Amino acid sequence: MFLTRRALGVAFSAGFSIVLAGPVAAQGQLTVYCSVQEEWCRPMMAAFEKETGIKVSMTRKSSGETYAQVKAESANPRGDVWWGGTGDPHMQAAEEGLTEEYKSPKLTELNDWAVRQWEGSKGRTVGIYSGALGFAYNTKLIAEKKLPEPKCWADLLDPKLKDEVQVADPNSSGTSYTMLATMVQIMGEQKAFEYLKALHKNINQYTKSGAAPAKATSLGETTVGIAFLHDHVMMIVDGAPMKAVAPCEGTGYEIGSMSIIKGAKNMDNAKKFYDWALTPAAQALAAPAKSFQVPSNKATPIPPQAPKLADIKLINFDFAKYGSSDERKRLLAKWDAEVKNLPK
Ligand code: G6P
Repeated sequence: MFLTRRALGVAFSAGFSIVLAGPVAAQGQLTVYCSVQEEWCRPMMAAFEKETGIKVSMTRKSSGETYAQVKAESANPRGDVWWGGTGDPHMQAAEEGLTEEYKSPKLTELNDWAVRQWEGSKGRTVGIYSGALGFAYNTKLIAEKKLPEPKCWADLLDPKLKDEVQVADPNSSGTSYTMLATMVQIMGEQKAFEYLKALHKNINQYTKSGAAPAKATSLGETTVGIAFLHDHVMMIVDGAPMKAVAPCEGTGYEIGSMSIIKGAKNMDNAKKFYDWALTPAAQALAAPAKSFQVPSNKATPIPPQAPKLADIKLINFDFAKYGSSDERKRLLAKWDAEVKNLPK
């Protein structure tokens, strides 16, 4: 009996050590929350798995939604890396201590705007790409409905566009929060809210995800969609009858960001992913996935399809202010109270 028990114990520990020596257990795993387009999330995770043998489990959610999830899980973090999405909720998470400080050796290879994001968050988030906000219209629908072609933010208030415009909800979507913060910076807060209330009359749906209005415009489900210009280009390169517009008054932009979640269970692998995601080779996976942002590593080629930021009238976006916890909470609560449920 004694011998049998001992023999079992040996067999068990031998089996256990074989499992540990196997490739997956040896390399371990990584849980990534991905806030770019699914089309880019998937090849990115597959390439990292292939290169490192680390098994990645990925969930795609919008920026504001991911922030809420990271906050809700903070007592027992389930994610390791939050990759992509607009910078503002990454900044808020940093300020609230939900993410980890990390200095990558790759930092020196990045553009200033990406490093500023890192400095502004005290090392808790870093810029991985940039892109400007704008809108696009479906050229067929505009012609069929004999609607004027919008060129400016102000044109979207035209009563002829009633129920013809789509944008995301700024609570879930970083794209839409970028729009809210852009309007406040262009017009001042009072005028911005008057604008958003007037625009509400023309909105057919507040979507969860920021790029959904670009897709809907391509399918002719809405005449005008507000999203990042590169999200419209993603549709246009596939032949959608759409025209993307950089609004005449000027526009805001994002610094898409990446953070390591505080208390990540797979911390070493999280840092491996973080360093790898900042390399030109990893960043070059965006363009084949039709994601035409401007990459943050200076050596990553800028895809020719990427909207040229130098040709767009960009505002001097205050990322520190609009990414701060108090300001983001305040503006979102105000939007909920004054705009979201306004009768039309
Ligand atoms: C799209 C864009 C990204 C952006 C993201 C924000 O995926 O391509 O550049 O960061 O939207 O997503 P959200 O759903 O939070 O607006």
